[in-house]
Amino acid sequence: MKSEIEIFLFQEFDKKNLHQRIQSLLSHLLQRSISDGDFLKNSHGKPFLKDHSLYFNISHTKNYALLAVSKDTPVGIDIESIRTDIDSAKLSQRFFCDTENVWVGDNHEKFCVLWTRKEAFIKAVGRGLSMGLNNIDVLEPIVFYENQKWKIDNIDLKLDGYRAAVCGVGGDWCIRINSVGA
Ligand SMILES: CC(C)(COP(=O)(O)OP(=O)(O)OC[C@H]1O[C@@H](n2cnc3c(N)ncnc32)[C@H](O)[C@@H]1OP(=O)(O)O)[C@@H](O)C(=O)NCCC(=O)NCCS
Repeated sequence: MKSEIEIFLFQEFDKKNLHQRIQSLLSHLLQRSISDGDFLKNSHGKPFLKDHSLYFNISHTKNYALLAVSKDTPVGIDIESIRTDIDSAKLSQRFFCDTENVWVGDNHEKFCVLWTRKEAFIKAVGRGLSMGLNNIDVLEPIVFYENQKWKIDNIDLKLDGYRAAVCGVGGDWCIRINSVGA
């Protein structure tokens, strides 16, 4: 059976209690109570459950937040709004590798798609910017990094003006999207 990454979309969330809601949701999924003390952060700030009973990752932007959860693989997730007030070509040259640059050109939507893919990958690995962003090509679905195979999927949230992506280890997982509402 294929393993799964479950994705929860929070709409119009209140930032103050987002963490509480995520904690309750993880608790519900694990069928046991979890407290603040069950969460740790790695040296680059990536939060994780100290017993690794579930992998999770969070992203937030304006009115939306996403939570990715998996029993099987470390995950990274990113959601961004498409910005038309930035110089996509210039930023692309700064952060992306040559093949990615060519693909993006000066297209704001493509820039946003690739940015979310790169952030999802970085967040899955959990090492932040220390990785050297323009050495890694995230255009293809599969990325090999330090003897590990990673898959990056665009997430179709059907939200105008937003793009999102998720990344996990291996290639044999699928995503399931749930909406959590306000
Ligand atoms: C945290 C980071 C990884 C992403 O931040 P961001 O896109 O601004 O914010 P997001 O909303 O997507 O993610 C924030 C969440 O990621 C989690 N997070 C923090 N550090 C993390 C890390 N090293 N790895 C994975 N997740 C991390 C946290 O849960 C955080 O939310 P919280 O503070 O409410 O708990 C950021 O520090 C970073 O290094 N970004 C890379 C920026 C960049 O240059 N990208 C280039 C893409 S081409």
